Amino acid sequence: MGIQPAADSLNSAIMTAALSRALAGTVRFAGATAPNPPVGCVLLDADGMVIAEGFHRKAGAPHAEAEAIFKARAAGLVSHIDTVVVTLEPCNHHGRTPPCADAILATPARRVIIGAPDPNPNVAGGGAGRLAAAGLSVIFASELADRRARQLAQQAARLIAPFARRSVTGLPWVTVKQAIDENGGMVPPAGATTFTSSSSLTLAHRLRRRADAILTGSGTILADNPQFTVRRVPDFAGKQRVLAILDRRNRVSAGYVADAETRGFSVLKSDSLLDVLRELGKQGVMEALIEAGPTLTTTVLESGLWDETCVD
Ligand SMILES: NC(=O)c1ccc[n+]([C@@H]2O[C@H](COP(=O)([O-])OP(=O)(O)OC[C@H]3O[C@@H](n4cnc5c(N)ncnc54)[C@H](OP(=O)(O)O)[C@@H]3O)[C@@H](O)[C@H]2O)c1
Repeated sequence: MGIQPAADSLNSAIMTAALSRALAGTVRFAGATAPNPPVGCVLLDADGMVIAEGFHRKAGAPHAEAEAIFKARAAGLVSHIDTVVVTLEPCNHHGRTPPCADAILATPARRVIIGAPDPNPNVAGGGAGRLAAAGLSVIFASELADRRARQLAQQAARLIAPFARRSVTGLPWVTVKQAIDENGGMVPPAGATTFTSSSSLTLAHRLRRRADAILTGSGTILADNPQFTVRRVPDFAGKQRVLAILDRRNRVSAGYVADAETRGFSVLKSDSLLDVLRELGKQGVMEALIEAGPTLTTTVLESGLWDETCVD
């Protein structure tokens, strides 16, 4: 594996532009694909022209490579495929769909550019090794000399970070969202449920859309009766989230739980942060968003069981 300049007619700028395009398209599906990662694929001809692109849109739907190759075939262009640019290392195992390494080997592709290696400990190196063994030039973006390509490699790794976290630890990626006022407080004035700007609220709904679960504390529910639905941005069709509630004293009413289920949530009550994260991981949750008051937020931050914070 590695860069093989003699065989490469495509220059690095074309490859990075294609990877950038694949990543930009894939970001749209972050939050839609659990328990699978969001993945994008762009197919190039020998002149570096885009033949087709494909994305993994949801679990059970075709993988990105399969969708792109299908589109190229439908357009009568499959014989022109020279380079496969993919945001995540192609799989080499039979899941719900056949291995993408096989689908690539069934095309005339000579080169594969990969944004991020597969983090799954059971398959690491599988797809890339298989393609290289079959004689294709396999290049990881992180190996390219171009600084932009290495930035894109980081972007590709970030895009699958929730998938990687769950693959490696069984726990979801945990994002802590906090609205903080000018005095550092998180509790809105009496009678209000928020003190943030409209743009901050929109960001909060974007984070919800990306998450597979919302995790909150009983205090927030008792104070605000929150809906936790995605409203300010369009949600993914048919997406079901888990609403996990930490409530050791059982203060959250059955009526609140029933209403949340009516809004489409699968509700999970727990009295332990670690146990609930383990259960969410088991249920296929890749990203959990903490939307809690100061008590639970502090517990989460002190636990070290978080990956990212978003403060506004
Ligand atoms: N600014 C923001 O971003 C933001 C976001 C959400 C809410 N809020 C505000 O926060 C206020 C509510 O604050 P809060 O601190 O009471 O809410 P909270 O942190 O959401 O809930 C606290 C409750 O969670 C339960 N809990 C269960 N397990 C816990 C654990 N391991 N660690 C900590 N708590 C655990 C506790 O009740 P048990 O002991 O009964 O289990 C605790 O009283 C509201 O006014 C709301 O508007 C602000």
